[in-house]
Amino acid sequence: MNKIIIKNNPDLPYAVEEAFNRLRINISFLGKDVRKIMVVSTTPNEGKSFIAMQLWRQMAETGYKSLLIDVDLRKSIMTEKYGMSLENGGKIEGTSYVLANDVPIKDSIFNTDIEAGDILPNVDNVINPSMLLENQRFEDLLDYAGENYRYTFIDAPPLDLVSDGERIGSLCDGAILVVRGGVTSKGMVKHSVMQLERAGCPLLGIILNRVEGSKGGYYYKKYGGRYYGHYGKYYSSDSYYYGKKS
Ligand SMILES: Nc1ncnc2c1ncn2[C@@H]1O[C@H](COP(=O)(O)OP(=O)(O)OP(=O)(O)O)[C@@H](O)[C@H]1O
Ligand SMILES: [Mg+2]
Repeated sequence: MNKIIIKNNPDLPYAVEEAFNRLRINISFLGKDVRKIMVVSTTPNEGKSFIAMQLWRQMAETGYKSLLIDVDLRKSIMTEKYGMSLENGGKIEGTSYVLANDVPIKDSIFNTDIEAGDILPNVDNVINPSMLLENQRFEDLLDYAGENYRYTFIDAPPLDLVSDGERIGSLCDGAILVVRGGVTSKGMVKHSVMQLERAGCPLLGIILNRVEGSKGGYYYKKYGGRYYGHYGKYYSSDSYYYGKKS
């Protein structure tokens, strides 16, 4: 298996690392049938990719065989943002390539520095990915993931754009809905919950993310079988603020 080197891995402050740790534990309580988890939000920029990446990393570092699939086929920036490159040089053929070409799925997934962590980023963004997602090939990819990995995290596009999120959700065991604090309205969140229901994708939990000005606290509550977490903080367009803003 080809290996991807991830150069820019942000060092998370203790409180944030700990928040992900708790989230990881809560996910493991969801039972053995929850394997393919879509990380989704109502609108763009709420923190899906950040959360999918951190969860995948934590699960893999704990020793669970985990796969991260980037299914944001329209505008993924994963490889640039995290400085990903192939260990042996050459071009990474990502998710859209795998879905559009008859290549063995097994050989299209990459290993990383984390032994139990494999990844399939998207590299070539496409204008109309719905066709690729509707294809049987996408089902084959997710079947392969379900059969070969304990956890698969799917970094999805936002639900408000097109029906891609519903299609992806219909093939997953559940979804984590990321909500940007103070920005996404209750009505919009309700609509997303309805879309997930319509897709037959159980809502596993909601993460309140990017809460500006929070004091670094983290709280966690469980409602019924769901968890509800509050992660992290502050944030500016290109840098991380984890301490209190002065
Ligand atoms: N809890 C957090 N703390 C600090 N920075 C964060 C946090 N969550 C997200 N960010 C940052 O906010 C920006 C948007 O996050 P991200 O790209 O994960 O959102 P997204 O929902 O995947 O967006 P898109 O819809 O465009 O795919 C990124 O720069 C990311 O690193
Ligand atoms: Mg994203």
